[in-house]
Amino acid sequence: MLNSLTLFMILFLNFSSAMKNYTEIINIVDELLTKQNIPSEVTAYLCWSKVLKANLFKRLSASNILTKIIATDDIVDLFPSEYQIYLVDLDCEGSNEILKKAQRKKLFSRPFRWVFCGNIEQPLFNDLYFGVDSRIFFIDNAGSEYHIKMPYKREKNSKKFTVNDLAEWNSLQGFTRFDEFAAARNRTDLFGMNINISCVYTDSDTLNHLEDYRNIHIDPLTKLSWILVHHLMSILNASATVIFRNTWGYRDSNTSLFSGMIGDLQTGEAELGGTASFFTIDRIDVVEFYASSAPTYMKFIFRAPPLSYVTNVFTLPFHTYVWYCSFLLLVLIFFAIYVIVKWEWKDVVFREKLERMHDGSISPLRPTFFSVLLMEIGAITQQGTDSEPKSNAGRIATIFTFIALMFMYTSYSANIVALLQSTTESIRTLEDLLNYRISLGVQDIVYAHHYFEVRIQLSIDSYPNQTPGLKWLNTQDLGKLWR
Ligand SMILES: *[C@@H]1O[C@H](CO)[C@@H](O)[C@H](O)[C@H]1NC(C)=O
Ligand SMILES: *[C@@H]1O[C@H](CO)[C@@H](O)[C@H](O)[C@H]1NC(C)=O
Ligand SMILES: *[C@@H]1O[C@H](CO)[C@@H](O)[C@H](O)[C@H]1NC(C)=O
Ligand SMILES: *[C@@H]1O[C@H](CO)[C@@H](O)[C@H](O)[C@H]1NC(C)=O
Ligand SMILES: *[C@@H]1O[C@H](CO)[C@@H](O)[C@H](O)[C@H]1NC(C)=O
Repeated sequence: MLNSLTLFMILFLNFSSAMKNYTEIINIVDELLTKQNIPSEVTAYLCWSKVLKANLFKRLSASNILTKIIATDDIVDLFPSEYQIYLVDLDCEGSNEILKKAQRKKLFSRPFRWVFCGNIEQPLFNDLYFGVDSRIFFIDNAGSEYHIKMPYKREKNSKKFTVNDLAEWNSLQGFTRFDEFAAARNRTDLFGMNINISCVYTDSDTLNHLEDYRNIHIDPLTKLSWILVHHLMSILNASATVIFRNTWGYRDSNTSLFSGMIGDLQTGEAELGGTASFFTIDRIDVVEFYASSAPTYMKFIFRAPPLSYVTNVFTLPFHTYVWYCSFLLLVLIFFAIYVIVKWEWKDVVFREKLERMHDGSISPLRPTFFSVLLMEIGAITQQGTDSEPKSNAGRIATIFTFIALMFMYTSYSANIVALLQSTTESIRTLEDLLNYRISLGVQDIVYAHHYFEVRIQLSIDSYPNQTPGLKWLNTQDLGKLWR
């Protein structure tokens, strides 16, 4: 491994200053591009003779590679960028300008590819930055053999290049060695380089439990990401300086600078966000999102309120028509008993009999409105009555009254007990929720503030005059809700 990583400075002095054999260089470029097996579009900056340019053109066209030869030092980023290959002869005049422009436009980074031949001016070369993700191929003529080398820098400000020696080529056999190359395998050893990582926590106790799997319901994202990032650092052989923030960060509308973790990434204070964050539109401009590392959801915990909260439970036990019928029944009973009692006191024989019995225990019912009403109320409230009709018809009516009202009373009581304990099922949609004006408790975490105050407000705006009460709850309060 270390053998392939030599310092480019040393290698560079070994560049031969012999005259280039252009035919061979054209062959190498062609074979190199063919070997990569990616659709390619070559933009060449060459000061070669017309014959050589035509040869290059012919050769690449034969391999189905689109070629453009440009005489000026104008450099443009073309599309699709992953197909673009810039071919530069460094011995040509003006090549330094091209390199400087490319550096300014950040064209040395992925997914652009560059092929260089010839010698480069040493001081300029040291100032160039080919990042770890760059794919820069130097065709280096070492005697009769050519080497293809891929220099890169681990850090932007460093002057040191590290080199992957990709291939060897000679004019007789073509490639005698062509190594596999993948940045993920060949450039991941950062030799203890420091990487600033910005992490977010919302609960200060989280810092004590980053690795011990405790309280995983508090700041789960922070704890999960922390472990992932640490694995990443050990894979990269890098060391991390961690910056802790208590918010992911939102844009200040005046300065367009973000706060928190995103702010660190924006200013370059940190290079890696150590805590997964939500994908929001305003962040896309500022940071680059990689694969999502943890599924995250925000959920409503909806406890249906008791039925008595939303409706009048006292009318619920009976259907509306049952209520109507019950009242009708009471009226009928009243009239039936009234008629019977009226007859009892009108009939001469029976009246004498009644008066004879009057010294007995239960007094006979008198044919007045209030006496009959009082008897009926006694039956409705299940209290009984102290006077009742004495005729057979009156007794039958009394028995039926008491039995009918007893059943009604029992079923009403049984129903209302069940109803008092049940919860409503009438809240099913967000609209219902808004209409019932139930106050809302929200876990007090920074992103909930964003989503409730900014995002949800937008949907609530379509229902004017409805502002549900928001209450911010900490984790303990939220736990109480569950119970
Ligand atoms: C360049 O190399 C080719 C073989 O690849 C050879 O035939 C030719 O003579 C060489 N030209 C020069 C100028 O050395
Ligand atoms: C990349 O790494 C693989 C496996 O470690 C190795 O075989 C290959 O030679 C390396 N390629 C280069 C260009 O160093
Ligand atoms: C990791 O980096 C250190 C320098 O900090 C270096 O000595 C060591 O060889 C590296 N480990 C590997 C496996 O390359
Ligand atoms: C932005 O500027 C306006 C006036 O220019 C000021 O009222 C407001 O407080 C500023 N907002 C922030 C977040 O600084
Ligand atoms: C990393 O953070 C330190 C201070 O914490 C700072 O001095 C340094 O410039 C940062 N590194 C980068 C690459 O921003």
